[in-house]
Amino acid sequence: MGIKGRRSQEIYDVVGIGFGPSNLSLAIALEEHGESAPRHPVTSHFFEKQPAFGWHRDMLLPSATMQISFLKDLVTFRNPLSRYSFVSFLHASNRLVQFVNNQDFFPTRHEFHQYLEWAAAGLGDRVSYGTEVTSIRPVTEGGGGGAPDLLEIEVRDGDGTTRVVAARNVAISTGLVPRLPDGMDGHERVWHSSEFLSRFGARAPEDLRKVMVVGAGQSAAEITRFLHDSLPHAEVSAVIPSYGYSIADDTPFANQVFDPSSVDDYYFGTEQARDSFWRYHRNTNYSVVDADVIRSLYQRSYEEQVHGSRRLHFRNLTRVDGVKSAGDETRVVLRSLLDETVEETAVDALVFATGYDGLDPALLLGEFDRNFERDAAGRHRVERDYRLVNASGLTCGVYLQGGTEHTHGLSSSLLSNIAVRSGEIADSIVLRRTERELGRTGPVEKASSAV
Ligand code: FDA
Ligand code: NAP
Repeated sequence: MGIKGRRSQEIYDVVGIGFGPSNLSLAIALEEHGESAPRHPVTSHFFEKQPAFGWHRDMLLPSATMQISFLKDLVTFRNPLSRYSFVSFLHASNRLVQFVNNQDFFPTRHEFHQYLEWAAAGLGDRVSYGTEVTSIRPVTEGGGGGAPDLLEIEVRDGDGTTRVVAARNVAISTGLVPRLPDGMDGHERVWHSSEFLSRFGARAPEDLRKVMVVGAGQSAAEITRFLHDSLPHAEVSAVIPSYGYSIADDTPFANQVFDPSSVDDYYFGTEQARDSFWRYHRNTNYSVVDADVIRSLYQRSYEEQVHGSRRLHFRNLTRVDGVKSAGDETRVVLRSLLDETVEETAVDALVFATGYDGLDPALLLGEFDRNFERDAAGRHRVERDYRLVNASGLTCGVYLQGGTEHTHGLSSSLLSNIAVRSGEIADSIVLRRTERELGRTGPVEKASSAV
């Protein structure tokens, strides 16, 4: 299969696909490696399809706060002396003293976004925005018959033209994939939470008299609160599959599941140990809500009862089974889990805050994916250093930042461990490059044992 577009001459040590927080953190780790080894830096470039840096912009709701401490920033757990820390950002913004006075470990998402943009600006020469990677394929340098040792990465620029860049490794960090319930599609009046603010902004508030939010996770609760604030004339309904919102467990012992050391416990643990992580600690992240948001929603509901006029409704033990759209009308099919009764109701907007699927590298790898091993459950096998296990002697590496919950545990899709993970990936790339240059081919000692 041929690839269109002209190939640039340079062969990068690593090309990053996506420039969200994970690959931003990797770019910094690589830069800091270069500062400590200036004669042999790791060459890298990153491609990001958004026109500028943005981190879940459509969920930057006014009062949303971070779900991790500010110290779990892009760098601190790997290198507390880094100039890219959140504390450095505060210092550069003349807000360090006030931040400390504020005594809050959890900044707003708005402020954290400012931090990420500030850090991304420092790496501006390393990233091309408005560029989408569309495929990756292996080639052998010089066209000989040996095992592929190079990756060609096809990049589509904003104007639709394509070009090809070459690298020894790629770091795929394309993020979570929005999930709608089976058989349901988004449109003008049916939105996923990941596109919320853009969709909401495109509608006149007076046209939104009856809105419904589906789900019992953090996104659903934040959007329900936002709609209740922003649409004082509207009926706001929350469709909750559980009996009520459940609290996100961020107490200290449970929070240890996000410690950098938990990755080894998960990766090298028995199947039973891994199951225990999920059985006991899924409620640190999925289908759960921060306590302050739960309280705020309950207080609103109670206030409405006190005043005898209710427009905030919670439909508990209920799931959405379907959506019917005809002309200007959208009807939602609701199924009560209590008695299996089914009801239809008309809405002006329906927001599916129904979560995300993990990153799937096969979408980008296409045919090339056949080179990588899968486990009995059909999931990619991944080495401890986040490199896909290949079955065909490739010396070039495909690293994952995300999509490794089955091998590396709960922090895989989160920010908690990105500083350390990026450092581990940078170390692996350097180590494997050294091995290659020394002419050895065996697996790197620490990074071997594949799950
Ligand atoms: P992210 O999704 O941020 O970045 C991926 C990037 O790749 C995107 O910018 C995308 O445009 C780009 N891209 C995709 N395909 C591409 C292609 N083919 N070519 C080029 N570019 C491509 N976690 C946490 O620990 N604490 C928190 O407070 C939060 N808060 C939070 C809020 C909301 C609303 C959501 C939905 C999620 C969170 N999370 C979170 C979890 C979240 O996954 C995490 O914060 C980061 O977004 C993970 O960063 P990544 O860089 O891995 O993915
Ligand atoms: P989520 O936690 O996966 O929650 C999805 C919810 O949708 C679940 O309650 C699920 O119920 C429900 N659901 C799915 N299909 C349904 C149906 N047909 N009918 C009714 N309900 C249905 O997703 P999320 O809230 O988007 O959170 C994803 C990640 O983003 C988490 O890491 C979260 O912490 C993060 N986040 C962070 C912030 C912040 O930092 N402030 C804000 C938003 C999100 P079941 O469990 O029964 O399937």
